[in-house]
Amino acid sequence: MSDITKSEILNTLKKTEDTNLNKDFLILNSIKNFELKGKELSFEITVPLINKNSSNDLKEKFIRLIHEDFPSLKKIDIKIDEKVTAHQDKKKSAVLPGIKNTIAVASGKGGVGKSTIAVNLAVALSQDGATVGLIDADIYGPSIPLMLGLKDKPKVFQSQHSMKILPLSNYGVKVISIGVLVDDNAPVIWRGPMASGAVKQFMTDVDWGELDYLIFDLPPGTGDIQLTLVQTIPLTGAVIVTTPQEVSLIDARKALKMFSRVNVPVLGVIENMSYFIAPDTGKKYDIFGTGGGSKIAAELEVPFLGGLPIEPQIRIGGDNGVPIAFDSPGSVQSKIMAEISRNLSAQVNLRNINGGQSSDLEIILGDDE
Ligand SMILES: Nc1ncnc2c1ncn2[C@@H]1O[C@H](COP(=O)(O)OP(=O)(O)OP(=O)(O)O)[C@@H](O)[C@H]1O
Ligand SMILES: [Mg+2]
Repeated sequence: MSDITKSEILNTLKKTEDTNLNKDFLILNSIKNFELKGKELSFEITVPLINKNSSNDLKEKFIRLIHEDFPSLKKIDIKIDEKVTAHQDKKKSAVLPGIKNTIAVASGKGGVGKSTIAVNLAVALSQDGATVGLIDADIYGPSIPLMLGLKDKPKVFQSQHSMKILPLSNYGVKVISIGVLVDDNAPVIWRGPMASGAVKQFMTDVDWGELDYLIFDLPPGTGDIQLTLVQTIPLTGAVIVTTPQEVSLIDARKALKMFSRVNVPVLGVIENMSYFIAPDTGKKYDIFGTGGGSKIAAELEVPFLGGLPIEPQIRIGGDNGVPIAFDSPGSVQSKIMAEISRNLSAQVNLRNINGGQSSDLEIILGDDE
């Protein structure tokens, strides 16, 4: 029998039916320490972190498939290393050295649920095992402190070279917001440059440590302030939140234009308030119309990451400072949020691995023995 090669094994692994694993991640250089000794095979494989419970499942699936294709093997030992890939960007490393990926949550229109989505995305990513931070970049209308139940003032300490702010933390997410730095009811009347100055300080003066994702909840709109902000933040990409109806879609198009002007990739569209299921009758109502999010995603040629229904619990969770992604992980809306966050992390990881193209990288990287 001729020796089994790494690429043969790779082809076998690609037969895996696993909705969470994008097969584009299975590339030759993700297999390390490949060893075949007689009838014993061992190797390590790195896959992007998808779900902290997924690696055992995946290992079993891999072993089963290899046994099927190579019945002569007596022992198969696989170590799965799950990690979030990092966006390689000089500007980002200079400003935020410990942060692997930065994602803006934006919308053209106000009140479509950006902050709600940003908070629940952050919590959902953290529940899947990622390290996550959240910057409330809505200097004019900070709503993150309320939505995450943050009441304390952050501590300031002297680090090696300068004073640093320790971010607050709740539900596994590190957070900073102007809302926790200034008095509750003091109106924040700031001009544009001050807003981007504040966000700059949130990036440089806050002790973020190492994070897989740093999420920015942007103020609504596509004016000068937003444009300055998206130029100030070294972004891996942006997600655009929209409701299904036409007025929101018009503004979603504007948001996409704004990001393409500054060369920030749009990682996908999230539809919010997609539908409402009446709790008494179970009947579905399309309050703001239907299908707008997926339509605009197709039109703009960006992925559709999913749609979140209108659900009183989501609003209550926001007002009470306990996000639904944390409060009721088994609920339909939490499961939808988890799916959306996994779709987003898949997009981020895809871009980091092969620049957003789903080409077969092993052809280029081939280092098979
Ligand atoms: N899917 C949903 N179901 C029920 N209520 C929701 C949902 N999404 C958002 N809300 C509620 O709608 C209101 C507006 O949401 P949110 O503040 O997240 O919007 P926003 O886009 O961040 O607004 P702004 O443009 O002012 O920043 C909040 O009270 C929030 O709790
Ligand atoms: Mg908001």
